[in-house]
Amino acid sequence: MKTLETIDIHRSHGSSLQSSLAMQLKMMIQRGELRAGERMPSSRELAATLRVSRNTVIAAYDVLIGEGYLESELRSGVYVGRAAQAFQLQRSVRGAPRKTPGLEGAGPHLQFRAPLPFRPSQPDVRLFPLQIWNRHRGRVLKQNPNLLHYQSIFSSGFDKLRQNIAAYLRDSRGVRCDWREIVITSGSQQALFLLGHLLLQPGSRVYMEDPGYLGARLAFRQAGAEVLPAPVDQEGIVLPGPELKSLSFIYVTPSRQFPLGICMSLERRLLLLQTAVRLRTWIIEDDYDSEFRYSNPPLPSLQNLDKHRRVIYVGTFSKILFPSLRIGYVVLPPGLVDRFASLKHIAEDHGPLMDQATLAEFMESGAFDTHLRRCRRHYAERHESFLDAVSRYGLPLEFPIQDGGMNIAGLFPPTTDDAHASEQLRLHGFDVPPLSRYAITRSRSGLLFGFTSFEPKVIQRSLGKIAEVLEKSVARGGG
Ligand SMILES: Cc1ncc(COP(=O)(O)O)c(C=O)c1O
Repeated sequence: MKTLETIDIHRSHGSSLQSSLAMQLKMMIQRGELRAGERMPSSRELAATLRVSRNTVIAAYDVLIGEGYLESELRSGVYVGRAAQAFQLQRSVRGAPRKTPGLEGAGPHLQFRAPLPFRPSQPDVRLFPLQIWNRHRGRVLKQNPNLLHYQSIFSSGFDKLRQNIAAYLRDSRGVRCDWREIVITSGSQQALFLLGHLLLQPGSRVYMEDPGYLGARLAFRQAGAEVLPAPVDQEGIVLPGPELKSLSFIYVTPSRQFPLGICMSLERRLLLLQTAVRLRTWIIEDDYDSEFRYSNPPLPSLQNLDKHRRVIYVGTFSKILFPSLRIGYVVLPPGLVDRFASLKHIAEDHGPLMDQATLAEFMESGAFDTHLRRCRRHYAERHESFLDAVSRYGLPLEFPIQDGGMNIAGLFPPTTDDAHASEQLRLHGFDVPPLSRYAITRSRSGLLFGFTSFEPKVIQRSLGKIAEVLEKSVARGGG
């Protein structure tokens, strides 16, 4: 009963006492504070300890029995379920969970997690000017109370936001388009998903960078396509040979190849565009983090060079602002705009307009540019700190491409088992995926480090520890 006495049961954000209690008990089971097979106090006892009604406890127990966390045995009482062993096993391998500073005793509403070092492609959301955002949000709502109704006329997105994006893309990425060719999507992932459904059918063929972005591959396969792996060399995607005739599209990340980080050379860009014209195929340009180039200004997009409008340009605010905003967009060639917009309308009518209208104001006010500059400054410093720590601690990896972005790929010698190394790091509380995770057929052995979400001191400390772990794991059978 000692541990259960410490439960801080309170109503939060509209949740009831019973769901708050169920959540707390669940967390205790997950953390191993209540062990598999342990007998729970009777509902009467626990109700008295926590000074809540017995019905509250019974209801919380019922929820957890339904989810398998607790088991009830006729006449003998309620026990922590056997399934809980799985959590406890994981925990004993991983070691005691570290408490997030400031979150001790936090209610269930505070359980959203921050990324562990060095999870790729994560912006530092602590830099985001929430107060300014909320001010714009309040103003937008006050001026447009009708915003809360269904607004099917905006199924391609809020017009003002589309106009601001068009201006931003023109100035910063050299994208040439009319704002009506832009459709706002729920993150760029929805754009990729819908493009898959628009352009593919079972048996269609897509040519895609290997290794490449998993989210894109899953979306295209889901639409029934065969994904053909395209090698990547030091100039970017290797173009399809003459044997590849009917391709529905070619998917590329030319500004910074995901995950290797290569910037596609101008010559390769021009050849790729010619190839698309020759094969009468589309190119999907996924421009996910090109804003983050530190030593030089961002390169213009591939779409900028496209005279024949074969390029479908996909972008996102997940990396510049914050990922849970779920606002991305696609710039479509004229022939695809209406078809894409109808599909989008069927998928979700329109996305959250309050956020879209707020973002439109945020861009227009200049707050967006200020924030972007601030992020660039911090990320440039973290990039430097990362490379500095890499050489200080002597990691057994090479980092051949150091062109900025949000991630840096480290390469092992080819025979190293990168999945094993990544797993060892996971057991020490790091989230550093192996490059083989992104491979269709061929992989370079290595790890992908995202550095943007972590302060220099965390970067330094973590890389010191990672060097130790890798020294052991790569030396021992991992290599
Ligand atoms: C290459 C690439 N494209 C697209 C995305 C998707 O971003 P979102 O769906 O959040 O807009 C990511 C996310 O990490 C990415 O790495």
